[in-house]
Amino acid sequence: MKEKIILIGGGGHCKSCIDVIEQTGIFQIAGIVDLPEKLHQKILGYEVIATDDDLPRLVNEYENFLITLGQIKTPEKRIRIFQALKESGAKLPVIISPIAYVSKHAKIGAGTIIMHHAMINAGAKIGSNCIINSRALIEHDAIIGDHCHIATVAIINGGTVISPKTFVGSNAVCKEYIEIGENTVIGCGAKIIKNIL
Ligand SMILES: CC(C)(COP(=O)(O)OP(=O)(O)OC[C@H]1O[C@@H](n2cnc3c(N)ncnc32)[C@H](O)[C@@H]1OP(=O)(O)O)[C@@H](O)C(=O)NCCC(=O)NCCS
Repeated sequence: MKEKIILIGGGGHCKSCIDVIEQTGIFQIAGIVDLPEKLHQKILGYEVIATDDDLPRLVNEYENFLITLGQIKTPEKRIRIFQALKESGAKLPVIISPIAYVSKHAKIGAGTIIMHHAMINAGAKIGSNCIINSRALIEHDAIIGDHCHIATVAIINGGTVISPKTFVGSNAVCKEYIEIGENTVIGCGAKIIKNIL
């Protein structure tokens, strides 16, 4: 029997997460948490069953949770929910699309999703509560801190360090062995060739 999972955040990113979760075949989506005005609406067939206020109750009823809120300008809401879930003992599994490639020599933290066609190469370390979006490339020995979003088709080259809470936009390229500081927003298409600290 599949394990049940609750998704938190019912916007566009949630739809992409649903597709990944369905393809894994491991979890059954038991419902979505969103704003009160969205209660009972359906997202790709899954009902909004609760709001943020219901999280303490949901943690007693369900085992697995994934934060499916998007993240561009700030990770603060994702971080707040992540910490609340952790403190209440909820399980935050790593979700990996079956059509992503993750080296057996890579490490991935709790609550992180690796989306379709992402590639995580040997020696890479990815923190907790991250989004590694579709077709992103994390090269050998790169380090991605907690609460980062590496957007679609972004490239983080070998040995580069992306510090926690940072967003790297679609199709951005980070040169090898550089460092990007905490809480940075890198726009789509940017070419980063020096440290940003
Ligand atoms: C960087 C970003 C967050 C800035 O958004 P914003 O604060 O709303 O900024 P604005 O659109 O008002 O743009 C401000 C200025 O920066 C410039 N700018 C914005 N994004 C830029 C980018 N990616 N590259 C170069 N310049 C950019 C704008 O042209 C504008 O310049 P101007 O003041 O000379 O007119 C946004 O443009 C971006 O890149 N978002 C990420 C998109 C993405 O990758 N989504 C992934 C989904 S998976």
